[in-house]
Amino acid sequence: MVEAVRQPEHAAQGDEPYGDAIVRLEDVHKRFGSQVVLDGVSLAFEEGKTTVVMGPSGCGKSVMLKHIVGLLRPDKGAIYFAGKRIDQLDEDELAPVRLQIGLVFQMGALFDSMSVEDNIAFPLIEHTQLSAGERRDRIAEALETVDLQGVQPKLPSQLSGGQRKRVAIARALVMRPRVILFDEPTTGLDPIRSAGIDDLIVRLREKFNVTNIVVTHDLASARHVADRVVMLLGGKVAADGSFESLANNADVRIQHFLTGTYSADDEPGMPEADKNPATLEVDASNPRLFKRGKDKRTS
Ligand SMILES: Nc1ncnc2c1ncn2[C@@H]1O[C@H](COP(=O)(O)OP(=O)(O)O)[C@@H](O)[C@H]1O
Ligand SMILES: [Mg+2]
Repeated sequence: MVEAVRQPEHAAQGDEPYGDAIVRLEDVHKRFGSQVVLDGVSLAFEEGKTTVVMGPSGCGKSVMLKHIVGLLRPDKGAIYFAGKRIDQLDEDELAPVRLQIGLVFQMGALFDSMSVEDNIAFPLIEHTQLSAGERRDRIAEALETVDLQGVQPKLPSQLSGGQRKRVAIARALVMRPRVILFDEPTTGLDPIRSAGIDDLIVRLREKFNVTNIVVTHDLASARHVADRVVMLLGGKVAADGSFESLANNADVRIQHFLTGTYSADDEPGMPEADKNPATLEVDASNPRLFKRGKDKRTS
């Protein structure tokens, strides 16, 4: 149903006033070979808000994030950052845009052989003219924000999983980005450490007005951090609203996702080889879902 269009349809290089939507996807299509991953995704991410993007494994969440930062290009459609069309920029033109976007990616691991200090200094050395002293101050400030004062000399292997995530967040923060993209920030963490990362995401928005775009399949995390939740299913936006509004969504796939019964039957287009129940990632029995009530959510 999607034609592989190499040349974006909206060829105009036109920028636009961006209102509140600091990041905007307009009818984004992306396929890999014959596999359609994004099938016309249009989304505006509001500045200073936390938008959570949910969806089953393989639905294109990470692919969507990579489009926002220019690591992937749409086959068709357009991507805007602060009103500037960015999907057709070359690497040099993209650089100043990327500096405004912090990445906390699953695969964006820390350098194991480098101290925490050197890990966080890396983007500063690469992209700023700051002196060594100024860098030290910025690093200390970023570590303080993530509640990890004093770990500068440690190696990543000397930290817990939760602490390593915090260092990765500090590394993103040190550049003072306007937008931070989080890809599954609580994956692999126990409920208490997950809740700590969730609290931090909320705090970044409250204290620094950071725009958070959080990809997760962790319902408890989504409920805690989200000003708004977007569900991606079958390459399209299937729901868009408050976390609570998802519960009333009539789409049976969404109900299955929420109750942890989402399965291959919900994905008619899924190749037979990929129909593995083990890909089910939502744990409806997760106690965090029920322990932390609405009271902790910010509005
Ligand atoms: N660079 C790539 N080349 C080919 N296929 C890819 C590439 N990146 C992602 N895919 C495929 O696109 C689909 C969506 O991937 P992804 O966005 O990583 O899923 P998720 O929602 O779990 O983050 C998957 O089937 C994945 O295998
Ligand atoms: Mg992913």
